[in-house]
Amino acid sequence: MTRGKVDALLGIVFGDEGKGKVVDVFTPKYDIVARFAGGPNAGHTIIFEGKKFVLRSIPSGIFAENKLNIIGNGCVIAPDLFMQEARELETAGYDLKNRLHISKRAHLILPTHRVLDRALEAAKGKNKVGTTGKGIGPTYSEKASRTGLRVGDLLENFEEKYRTLKARHEETLRQLHYTDYDITEEERLWLEGVAYMRQFSLVDTEIEINRALREGKNVLAEGAQGTMLDIDHGTYPFVSSSNTVCGGVCTGLGVPPSAIGEVFGIFKAYSTRVGSGPFPVELFDETGDRIREIGHEYGAVTGRNRRCGWVDLVALKYAIMVNGVTQLIMMKGDVLDTFPTIRACVAYQKDGEVTTDMPFDTEGWTAVYKDLPGWQTDLTHLTSEADFPQAFKDYIAFLERELETPITIVSVGPDRAQTISLK
Ligand code: GDP
Ligand code: IMO
Ligand code: MG
Repeated sequence: MTRGKVDALLGIVFGDEGKGKVVDVFTPKYDIVARFAGGPNAGHTIIFEGKKFVLRSIPSGIFAENKLNIIGNGCVIAPDLFMQEARELETAGYDLKNRLHISKRAHLILPTHRVLDRALEAAKGKNKVGTTGKGIGPTYSEKASRTGLRVGDLLENFEEKYRTLKARHEETLRQLHYTDYDITEEERLWLEGVAYMRQFSLVDTEIEINRALREGKNVLAEGAQGTMLDIDHGTYPFVSSSNTVCGGVCTGLGVPPSAIGEVFGIFKAYSTRVGSGPFPVELFDETGDRIREIGHEYGAVTGRNRRCGWVDLVALKYAIMVNGVTQLIMMKGDVLDTFPTIRACVAYQKDGEVTTDMPFDTEGWTAVYKDLPGWQTDLTHLTSEADFPQAFKDYIAFLERELETPITIVSVGPDRAQTISLK
C-alpha cells in the first residue's frame, strides 16, 4: 500500500493569515488534522452557515465528521482554556471526546506560567514582545530547560508534580519582585480543566500518526502563528517560542521529513502584525487605518489592533525558501477591493543599501514599493477564476512571477464558501 503523506498548511508571515478557514475547507480531503506547534496564543477563525468559531488549541478540522483531530507533541496546552474551548464546541453539538486525541508529550501551561509571562514582559520595559499573555514563552523555556510538565504527567502523581513546579515559579516571581497577583480562581478552573482533560484520549500521537501513514491515510498539519514569528527564522526576539516553520511539523508531530507532501503557504493580499517588533511595510497613515477597518484587523485572541501594510515580497520569498512552499494560498483579496492603487514591497532599503534577502535584523529597514493598478471591483460574490477582474488576475500573476510559486487558492471573504481554486 502507498504510504500516506503529511501536507502542511503554514502561515508564512506574522500569523492571522486565515489558516483556520482553509484548514476547515481542506479537511474533507484528509483523514487526520493535527496541530504541531503553539497553543492558545493562536486564534483560528472559522465561519460557515452563519456560525463563527475561534479555535485556540483545537485543530480546525473538528467541524468535519469522522475525522481524527490531534494536538501534537510540539504544542503547549492550558487545561482551563482547553476546557472552555472544548465545552463551547460540545454545546454547539460537536462531539469531541472520540475525535480529538492529545499527545502525552505536549507541554502543560500552568497558571503561574501566565503570571511569569506578564512578569517577564513587565521587566522588559520598552522592549516588550507584546505577547498574548498565555504563558507561551515560559512554558517553552521550561520545556527546553527540561523542567516542564507534560500531558502524560496528568496520569500519574500529578498533584505533587504540580505543587513542586508551582512553588518554583512562585520563587522566580519573588526574585522578579512580581508578587501582586492572585491566581486563586484561575487555579480552581485550571484544576477543573485538568480533570476534564483526563476524559480525553491522552495518547502517543506520534505512533498513531505514523501508523495511519503506513495505512495510506493522509494528514493535514495545521500551522499556528507564522514564519516571521518562528523562534529561529522570525524577527527575533519579537517572535513566539516555537518552530512554526515546516521543520516544526516533523518535530512537533514525530513524522519524518520524507513523509511531508505538499507545503501550502498561506498569506494575505496585504500584511499585518500584532505585537511589537520591526515591520518594514507598516503604514501609519490613513491607508493603514482603512486596511485595518475593512479587513477587521483586530486580534482574535487579545482584541488588539493589528498593524497593517502592503504585501511584503521580501518576507514571502524568505518564508517560501525556509518552508519549501509548493503552493501559495492568498487570503483577503476582497479587502483591497476599493483601492485604486495596490502596492507591493519588492525590496528593503537602509542607508543607501537595497536588499531582497531577509536581513538578520529588519529594524530600520524601509520598504521599496512597486505600484500596481487596483481592481476596484467587489470580489466577495465571485465563485470562479473566469470572473476575476483583469487587474486582480494581473496582481496574482505578478505575485506568482516574483515568488516563483503558484497561487492555487484565493479567498474572497471569511465564509467557508468564499474560497476559489485556481487552474
Ligand atoms: P488564522 O489565525 O491564520 O487562522 O487567522 P485569523 O482567524 O486569526 O484571522 C483571519 C481573519 O480573517 C478572520 O477574522 C477570518 O474570518 C477572516 N478571513 C479569512 N479569510 C478571509 C477573506 O478572504 N476575506 C475576508 N474579508 N476575511 C477573511
Ligand atoms: P495565529 O495562529 C498573530 C504574536 C504575539 C506576539 C508574539 C509572541 O492566530 O496566527 P506569544 O504569546 O506567542 O509569546 O507572543 O507573537 N503571536 C501571534 N500573532 N497570530 C498568532 O497566532 C500569534 N501567536 C502569537 O502577538 O507579538
Ligand atoms: Mg489568528
